[in-house]
Amino acid sequence: MCGIVGYIGHRDAYPIIIKGLQRLEYRGYDSAGVALYDGTDINLAKTKGKVEELKGKAESSISLNGNLGIGHTRWATHGVPNDVNSHPHYSNSGNLVIIHNGIIENYESIKKELIKRGYSFSSDTDTEVLVNLIEEVQKTEDVKLGKAVQIALNQVVGAYAIAVFDRKKPDEIVVAKLGSPLAIGVGDDEFFIASDASPFIEFTNNAVYLEDEEMAIVRLGKEIKLRKIKDDAIAYPNIMELQMNLEEIEKGGYDHFMLKEIYEQPRAILDTYRGRLLADKGIIKMAGIDQHLEKFTNANRIVIVACGTSWHAGLVAEYIFENLARIPVEVEYASEFRYRNPVITDKDVLIAISQSGETADTLAAIKLAKEKGAFVFGVCNVVGSSIARETHAGAYTHAGPEIGVASTKAFTTQITVLTLIALKLAKEKGKLSKTEFHEYLSELENIPGKVEKALESNPLIEIIADVYKDSTNCLYLGRGYNFPVALEGALKLKEISYIHAEGYPAAEMKHGPIALIDEQMPVIVIATKKGHYEKVVSNIQEIKSRSGKIIAIVTEGDKQVKDLADHVVEVPETIESLTPLLTTIPLQLLSYHIAVMRDCNVDQPRNLAKSVTVE
Ligand code: G6P
Repeated sequence: MCGIVGYIGHRDAYPIIIKGLQRLEYRGYDSAGVALYDGTDINLAKTKGKVEELKGKAESSISLNGNLGIGHTRWATHGVPNDVNSHPHYSNSGNLVIIHNGIIENYESIKKELIKRGYSFSSDTDTEVLVNLIEEVQKTEDVKLGKAVQIALNQVVGAYAIAVFDRKKPDEIVVAKLGSPLAIGVGDDEFFIASDASPFIEFTNNAVYLEDEEMAIVRLGKEIKLRKIKDDAIAYPNIMELQMNLEEIEKGGYDHFMLKEIYEQPRAILDTYRGRLLADKGIIKMAGIDQHLEKFTNANRIVIVACGTSWHAGLVAEYIFENLARIPVEVEYASEFRYRNPVITDKDVLIAISQSGETADTLAAIKLAKEKGAFVFGVCNVVGSSIARETHAGAYTHAGPEIGVASTKAFTTQITVLTLIALKLAKEKGKLSKTEFHEYLSELENIPGKVEKALESNPLIEIIADVYKDSTNCLYLGRGYNFPVALEGALKLKEISYIHAEGYPAAEMKHGPIALIDEQMPVIVIATKKGHYEKVVSNIQEIKSRSGKIIAIVTEGDKQVKDLADHVVEVPETIESLTPLLTTIPLQLLSYHIAVMRDCNVDQPRNLAKSVTVE
């Protein structure tokens, strides 16, 4: 993980780098650092902690002048988060300075070799080894920085997005990428370097996304030059025009990004189906599916790979695909799939779901499935991300930037895209009547309004949160389409409030979790009218007779559960397969309020990162 930012041009580099790092803190926030070239020397400040702490340190200890600089916000892999292990790292001569996102797997053997040659190391990081390897190549081969970087990278195993500059040649920054993302913003005789476009979006809409094993030298007064790291071949930069705007990546009056993103869901869901769902014409238009329809309709099965919240969206999709389109589906954690020698053939379609489009395990699973001949389809939020580029075809979720580490609108928009795909395939395979298909389309169009309605339960949820904020455990139960929602609800609570929570299929409670139930244990039960309602009611009774506290998510107007539960939160009625889009909302709000009441850092929970580019 980690976020990297760099600037070279005519503006002051420091404010661009600091602001950019703050926008990239979702990628890691253990420590941060900045290195600036002031015209004669490099000034470097770094510290354990967040970018705000770096700001304090830099502004009181170094000169902030200069039009060239690099900065880093870290999610520790090698070496504990402390000042010394923070980036940027100097080479032994003090001439080179580097920032790095990724892991150099063979750093220990390289380090031993460099120590034999007289190098010393102050940190425990793989990055300090890399910058010294570059310096050693520069010396022994007598080559310029770009060439030295290329030779060095051919000796390393691992993943990287790096930016490095040389005090002796301060008109260029050398960048390279393998496995971790790297975008170059192209301005008017100025360049921005960043892990994603958010640090430079207010300065330029033009960006080049480096491909794996590509490097670039960004030099003042020159066009960007791309090279393949392996064979030195020249690659031509594809300058993309970005659609993102600044407002989208700021808090807009909300206390936290997470809350803003929860409230954005009606709009985000609408944006997801806008232009795709044409209810009046009775069609769903999705270029990525239309162009490869036969791959889907002839597929033996669909394998879905993802991690975290995206995996939960995959589980919801399994129910929807199998129920509507009658295509067998398997859902796998990408990290398991990639290492278990799965049976995959050219008759399989693999759908990779990822908000960031950068998750290392999901990316590796895609590569594996491609090697085995499967058709690979991506469902990503971040446009131009590695997964979006690595897949054969795909559909963006169009949720807009999601900054809060706990995923919210990404989940509901992923479910929306997957529902559109399932409906399209169901229609194509003749599994839904025209009337049923129309019913789905018009109900999907009602969903943003119904999500709005579900959000109205916010004040009630705040009251419930206050009752349970000191709980140490929590159980989430759901059946069918709402079983994955229970998992997601539990994940949200764990992630941001650090309360232990488990999600279970409601009927499985009898096989273990019921032993945990006592008067201290809040149990959140999703008990909407459709979907085995009576069975869930029985489960609620079982909890009640063991004195558990019940918070039930019910369909508007419900009476039966109301009499049994300690608290009920209503959501509007909808078609069963669409209920996750509504039942998720109160669970997101509940975890949000509990976390706020416990004084937790909602947007940047401890130990987590939004984009997990290491395995
Ligand atoms: C991290 C994030 C989660 C996310 C998961 C998968 O763990 O904290 O919110 O669900 O990665 O990320 P992806 O970007 O692939 O959806």
